[in-house]
Amino acid sequence: MTNRTGRRTAIIGGVRTPFVKAGTSFRNLTALDLGKLVVSELVQRCELKPREIDQIVFGTVIPSVQMPNIAREVGLATGLPKEIEAYTVVRACATSLQALTTAADAISAGEIDCAIVGGSEAMSDVPITYSRPVAQAIVTASRGKTVVDKIRAFSDVSPRDLLPVPPAIAEYSTGLSMGESAEKMAKENGISREAQDAFAHRSHTKAAKAWDEGTFSKEVMRVLLPPGFEEAVVEDNVVRKDSTLEGYAKLKPVFDRKYGSITAGNSSPLTDGAAALLVMSEDKARALGMRPLGYLREYAYAAVDPNWQLLQAPAFSVPKVLRRAGMKLADLDLVEIHEAFAAQVLSNLQAFASKQFADEHLGGAEPIGEVPDGKLNPNGGSISLGHPFAATGARLVHQALRELAARNGNSALISICAAGGLGGACILTRE
Ligand SMILES: CC(C)(COP(=O)(O)OP(=O)(O)OC[C@H]1O[C@@H](n2cnc3c(N)ncnc32)[C@H](O)[C@@H]1OP(=O)(O)O)[C@@H](O)C(=O)NCCC(=O)NCCS
Repeated sequence: MTNRTGRRTAIIGGVRTPFVKAGTSFRNLTALDLGKLVVSELVQRCELKPREIDQIVFGTVIPSVQMPNIAREVGLATGLPKEIEAYTVVRACATSLQALTTAADAISAGEIDCAIVGGSEAMSDVPITYSRPVAQAIVTASRGKTVVDKIRAFSDVSPRDLLPVPPAIAEYSTGLSMGESAEKMAKENGISREAQDAFAHRSHTKAAKAWDEGTFSKEVMRVLLPPGFEEAVVEDNVVRKDSTLEGYAKLKPVFDRKYGSITAGNSSPLTDGAAALLVMSEDKARALGMRPLGYLREYAYAAVDPNWQLLQAPAFSVPKVLRRAGMKLADLDLVEIHEAFAAQVLSNLQAFASKQFADEHLGGAEPIGEVPDGKLNPNGGSISLGHPFAATGARLVHQALRELAARNGNSALISICAAGGLGGACILTRE
């Protein structure tokens, strides 16, 4: 960013694990294992002396209760110098975008010169907790002086209280799941089942083509699975190489079985994976002789009422980031939109182009316009590549910078919707 203090953040390199469906290849790995894998690979790939790193900013959306500051644990477990300070950020699906922009602010302010940013998510290893009555009884029992005290602490616990509580993919404030909220958006915005299925098919077709053509070879590392380290995971396993439009039409709606349109095919899947980026001040990159993939030019976040349209905040964060950067949609060579659900991407795109939306919600500003199909998610997105919540932001940034180079473009927009009614956007440039 240049318009805040003048120290621009350069993105030097990035890497991600393959993204795999929860419960498959990475089912025995934790978020820390995945984070450790990408961070050590990144340092090696960038040929960076670890002592050059000032900070690690990392996140996971569904954290382990044993490990509240995963960023620090990743640094320690990777064997990086213990003097590298580290902290954890979370902004739901925009978590690693937050990690990037937080580090960029610190670079911009002259506080640090170099950071590793990213996120990891192990949906196969979610923390299962106990109900409040059981938790309270355990705490009381731990203070009990005698065995009788300890047993008495459980006297008010009913058998139902003993059921374990898995984390919900539901909004705390509304009680609706992401899928239910996306259903609401599909209905309110008139997004048809056919349009959603066509978009999901597009996503899988483009991702399959990108994998076939080796597009991801510089972005995705190979993971050797413990304990034998003989079996290697080299590709995302969510991508359907045999995607057919008819296949989507057969699927039953999941979140509103009677009147709904959102299915397993047109949603992003629950996914395991991690992604990381190496960022530096532009002058540090120059001093080290590093060739940046690109730069963070601007970013913006926005929020909407989660009871309204939970995943529609990009319709606010994208105009905001363009305004801050003094750019128009037409100035961009590439637009990468996180695909939580096809219904959400199509709702966001509809709002970008709508005069009525701009009049009602953006104070009568000109709508930013339509995103040309050729510039949108050309190598697939979260529906086909998968969506390990905290890793998606870093995946999008790295993928966008590689694609910009491939098409000899200069500017890309990243847009991410996130739980809580949040939206994050940033603009990347190669020059
Ligand atoms: C939608 C969801 C519930 C589906 O989970 P699931 O039932 O485990 O999904 P599966 O991958 O097993 O797919 C179900 C079926 O659809 C089929 N299917 C999935 N995608 C398909 C496609 N593109 N084409 C054809 N068939 C497809 C599967 O083969 C499977 O068929 P089977 O039952 O015969 O084996 C789950 O992915 C989910 O919760 N996603 C949303 C995640 C979320 O909230 N993200 C937040 C975004 S911010």
